[in-house]
Amino acid sequence: MSQQTKNLPQAEPTDGFSKSGFIISAVGSSVGLGNIWRFPYLTSQNGGAAFFLLFTLCLLLIGLPVLLAELAIGRGGRGNAASSFQKLSGKKAWGLFGLISVLGSLLIMSFYGVVTGWTLHYSVRSFTGFLNRQSDYAASFQSFTGSGYWPVFWEIIAMAITCWVVAKGISGGIEKFNKVLIPAMVVALLVLMVNALTLSGAKAGIDYFLKPDFSKLTPEAGLLALGHAFFSLSLGMGTMVTYGSYVNKRQSLKSASLAVVGGDLVYALICGLIIFPTSFTYGLESQQGPGLVFIVLPAAFHAMPFGAVLGGIFFVLLAIAALTSAVSMLEVPVAFAMEKWKWTRTKASVAITAVCVLLGVPAALSAEGPWKGYVWLGRTVFDWLDYTASNLLLPFGGLLVTLFAGYVWKTSSQEAELTPFWSRVWRWLLRYLAPVVIVLIFLYSAGLLRF
Ligand code: TRP
Repeated sequence: MSQQTKNLPQAEPTDGFSKSGFIISAVGSSVGLGNIWRFPYLTSQNGGAAFFLLFTLCLLLIGLPVLLAELAIGRGGRGNAASSFQKLSGKKAWGLFGLISVLGSLLIMSFYGVVTGWTLHYSVRSFTGFLNRQSDYAASFQSFTGSGYWPVFWEIIAMAITCWVVAKGISGGIEKFNKVLIPAMVVALLVLMVNALTLSGAKAGIDYFLKPDFSKLTPEAGLLALGHAFFSLSLGMGTMVTYGSYVNKRQSLKSASLAVVGGDLVYALICGLIIFPTSFTYGLESQQGPGLVFIVLPAAFHAMPFGAVLGGIFFVLLAIAALTSAVSMLEVPVAFAMEKWKWTRTKASVAITAVCVLLGVPAALSAEGPWKGYVWLGRTVFDWLDYTASNLLLPFGGLLVTLFAGYVWKTSSQEAELTPFWSRVWRWLLRYLAPVVIVLIFLYSAGLLRF
């Protein structure tokens, strides 16, 4: 850190989180479509319980230290995802690297907004009798996404809600939104879990999910578990840097990080306790993405007692999880535009939402939609957005965070308020373990490394 930045008085932000509001909002950011959409599929394809164990290890050994680093960078630098790095290092180049995470957030936002739109559509649908009627749920999903305009319509609704929350600011928007919705989501989750555990296939499902069979593990599973830990904790895209910049000095970043990692883990555990008993009871395969959540689960809800109500609860829960993550993603470019171009919050929110909607239109049309056939190098537009952001930008952003907090910013552990012992552990994880493992993932997902 340069002398100059060290001596600058650090102003408290004018708008910021309250103590509990910050923890709830950070949990809201991390818990999202990743937990419900990706996690069950990855688990079922990669050794069940053994994969869950690996994911837990990754969350604790890599996710936790990187999360603490991102929060400390945000609070220490008191700026957006790009300027925090620049202020703390005194070097312009670091600001440029931070810019990558701002752009990455825009990219992720564009397809995340599309899927959030699907969850809203299914929430509304399940309260209008969709799950009562016997229907071919695969065909109805295809006719929805294939129509072209409906997914775009719902994407616009999802982005408008996200924009409205972000435009209202941190304490009056994001924090309030999370404080109302996250407790509701927890109640819904518990209702669904209790119901799933009473199903006839519950024992088989739980055994599969919680009794590890290490023979099924592959080296690939380790990398997937790590990548998912990043996605699930909202790391590598400046989300937690930006949230950290709205936190005051009285907040303990350590306890907040532990709460977020603990919350994400428990949420993943409960999601598993819902999905696996359900799919074992109804003999449905836990497959990825659209198939699992929008085709397989409606069929299960249709068949189960009180399924129409429970299904409605499930889709509302899914929509809440998605929206509370979406606001954290949109906040990254909005904070950037407000600081960089001195835009008002409303102007920044509306302009960036418009960009995300536009970027989302091709994503909406290409995910199972009319543009599904436009494929370049084996991927649709939707897949390209997802692939570039999740597999390339995300590990790259995460790597820079470890290097920055481990090597460049010398007083990072002071900002993280660590005792000398934990400071040494944290630095070791950031300097050695995390970067090495992240480089492995990066090479792997870029296709340069195969096991
Ligand atoms: N963590 C969220 C989820 O599990 C998604 C998310 C929010 C995210 N912000 C992010 C993912 C930043 C990567 C980077 O759905």
